[in-house]
Amino acid sequence: MRAALFHATGDETADVRDDVEVVPTGPGLVRIAIRATGVCHTDISSMNGTIPQPAPCVLGHEGAGEVVEVGQGVDTVSVGDHVVVSWVPPCGKCTDCLNGRPHLCMTGFITGGPRFLLGDTPVHGVANTGTFTEQLVVPAAAAVKIDDDVPWDVASLLGCGVMTGVGAAINTAQVRPGSSVVVFGCGGVGISVIQGARIAGAAEIVAVDLVEGKREHARQFGATHTASPDELAGVSAQVTKGAGFDYGFEVVGIPATIRGPTTRSGAAVLRWWWAQGAPTRRSSSTPSSSSSWRSGSSALSTGRPTCGSTSTGS
Ligand SMILES: NC(=O)c1ccc[n+]([C@@H]2O[C@H](COP(=O)([O-])OP(=O)(O)OC[C@H]3O[C@@H](n4cnc5c(N)ncnc54)[C@H](O)[C@@H]3O)[C@@H](O)[C@H]2O)c1
Ligand SMILES: [Zn+2]
Ligand SMILES: [Zn+2]
Repeated sequence: MRAALFHATGDETADVRDDVEVVPTGPGLVRIAIRATGVCHTDISSMNGTIPQPAPCVLGHEGAGEVVEVGQGVDTVSVGDHVVVSWVPPCGKCTDCLNGRPHLCMTGFITGGPRFLLGDTPVHGVANTGTFTEQLVVPAAAAVKIDDDVPWDVASLLGCGVMTGVGAAINTAQVRPGSSVVVFGCGGVGISVIQGARIAGAAEIVAVDLVEGKREHARQFGATHTASPDELAGVSAQVTKGAGFDYGFEVVGIPATIRGPTTRSGAAVLRWWWAQGAPTRRSSSTPSSSSSWRSGSSALSTGRPTCGSTSTGS
């Protein structure tokens, strides 16, 4: 079977091989023929060690495919079902699951048994999945059924970028209609934040990115204004008349941009995650109940909640 993996943290290129085996479809597991996979920055962070992953490790954690085998006791999906792979499968038993926050379930998050074999060597998968492969075996809860007519490439993006970005805007920040939003970083997740803000009815959405092409792209997904970091002050003055944005989203994952958002009252949502190489517990999904970002920033004392967000329950 073909799969793309890295052998050790720090590898600069993926090794695409055709001799990788998938683990057996044991009780409670399902085997999926992957039809499409997205590329997320977290795959790069997994290779370079920013996000610790056991190695060797098959890349990819954002995929969709067709169920080709179900293990004993699985009744949530059947052979032939179209599914999105989830890297946050809820266990249904922990405190977070029982309190209605299954997206914060840590039980199957990142850690887990090897998903593949390379000869006799166990091989893991990014975020306990590994979608850069032809086949993948995951717990049944990690196979989320979707309608058969959703295109594979679109479906695959739901597995990480879309649920993270759209969920951050709609569920975590709860962007209000008519509000102003600034989004730092217009990659896969940032574009999804922009779409979520648009769906939520934001009046002004300013997309900030170093790369002009990314800023152009952001407009197609709902940004009303764009700015390079150097242009932001001018655009901010124009859009907010100096008051600051209602919501700021950091979607790059580096300290400089995490310190960057300027907001007024409302939620300053920083979707940060291992941003400085140090793991932090994922925060709750509502701005008022979480503050995992130890900023020391005056923003906190001026009514600007700050919180982190991962898959955000979407
Ligand atoms: N659930 C989660 O917590 C979750 C899910 C997916 C991704 N992530 C993380 O979110 C971040 C973004 O992921 P992605 O896949 O969208 O990445 P990406 O590489 O596709 O996009 C990042 C964007 O940021 C831009 N950028 C870089 N430096 C910048 C700066 N100083 N100012 C403005 N823009 C800048 C880049 O040009 C790029 O367009 C990564 O850190 C990733 O690990 C977290
Ligand atoms: Zn991802
Ligand atoms: Zn749980």
